[in-house]
Amino acid sequence: MIWVVAQAERVKGDLTVPGDKSISHRATLLGALATGETRIANFLRSADCMATIRCLRALGITIEEDAEAEEGVGRLVVHGRGLRGLQAPQDMLDCGGSGTTMRLLAGILAGQSFASVLTGNEALRRRPMARIIEPLRRMGATISGVDGDRLPPLYVQGGALHGMAYHLPVASAQVKSAILLAALYAKGPTLLHEPAPSRDHTERMLKAMGISLDTAGTQIVLDPVPAADKPLPPLDIAVPGDLSSAAFFIVAACLLPDSFVRVRDVGVNPTRTGLLDVLRGMGAQIIIENERLVSGEPVADIVARSSRLRGVTIGGDLVPRMIDEFPILAVAATQAEGITHVREAAELRVKESDRIAAIVSQLTRLGARIEERHDGFVIYGPTPLCGAEVDAHRDHRLAMSLAVAGLVATGRTSIEGAESIPDSFPGFERQLDAIVGRSV
Ligand code: S3P
Repeated sequence: MIWVVAQAERVKGDLTVPGDKSISHRATLLGALATGETRIANFLRSADCMATIRCLRALGITIEEDAEAEEGVGRLVVHGRGLRGLQAPQDMLDCGGSGTTMRLLAGILAGQSFASVLTGNEALRRRPMARIIEPLRRMGATISGVDGDRLPPLYVQGGALHGMAYHLPVASAQVKSAILLAALYAKGPTLLHEPAPSRDHTERMLKAMGISLDTAGTQIVLDPVPAADKPLPPLDIAVPGDLSSAAFFIVAACLLPDSFVRVRDVGVNPTRTGLLDVLRGMGAQIIIENERLVSGEPVADIVARSSRLRGVTIGGDLVPRMIDEFPILAVAATQAEGITHVREAAELRVKESDRIAAIVSQLTRLGARIEERHDGFVIYGPTPLCGAEVDAHRDHRLAMSLAVAGLVATGRTSIEGAESIPDSFPGFERQLDAIVGRSV
């Protein structure tokens, strides 16, 4: 699908964005392992999260869905059957394009008393799985992939697991969560060390369910003993708006003249707010208002205004704190005065697309001065952008970032591959049109 975006004069709006993708996945998965009814409000009805629902249903879990007034969100009631209540699936479990579904479910399935196969679409079948196969095997799991255990489909024969001490080679919340979920089924505690803090939604939810889990810096210890004896209680969860979705509107407001957006009720968990810190460091006028705790997660309203930006260097611990925001950061950097250097971000090459190569090739088409590095990119700004034909590589975050670039670029920008946008943000096009002041 091709989406044509025209240059915009300004953006203005007071809006909310659909629920957080990472929290929606986790609330549903942990709801299935609790005993009783987990209620989830503002659940993200994106293609990725619907894949989690589909897989859990195939594992015998009843999930009731109700669309809410806002496009792209719904209420869920998950009828959890307890840690040992999942049933053997009749067929392969189809994770669609969702890496989170596949990796987190693999951790849960490693502890079951049956075998299952996890597969997904062509894009997901290209994503690295050795990073979960290796640690789960160390815990005693029987799990394999194809192509030398590198890729999906994954075959998981559930069985007895034991705790372990493990240093994660990459800062990945999906890998960390897969191990923590498997650790619920293990004999003995599991100790994890992350190279840098990654999103901690799984840890927060597990603690809220009474699991013994302690975090000290980049170290996490989970002791499954209390959980083995008593059922996990179901939670009532209101999912905050997804900061990774709000990011597109925040950057649009910073880049266009005479612009202002307020995005309400957005999750501002400090493991996710790297982009806000970086933009502020670049000179962006961003204010966090009304900060509070909702369902164990920090939530706030974020106000962003037209700003004069300057280039920055990004690397180290900041990278996992904004891992999904590099495509939109790159768009911002094309309009910043001076050099922006992103390094130590080679993980971007194994996302929904090779985001380093895709950002560089597509922003070049729009007139940006950008150079590829093995672990990032360098942007020399500011450069005027000119509308052109670009290809989002069927990567939702790239498509939305190119749309924001299209608001800044002169003329029209045609984005190929925009059909991927509902993977994380159903209704994005309508909301973007609304803040630009165009009717759909
Ligand atoms: C996610 C973790 C990140 C992120 C992805 C969602 C999660 O992936 O890019 O969009 O929900 O745990 P990695 O764990 O591969 O860094």
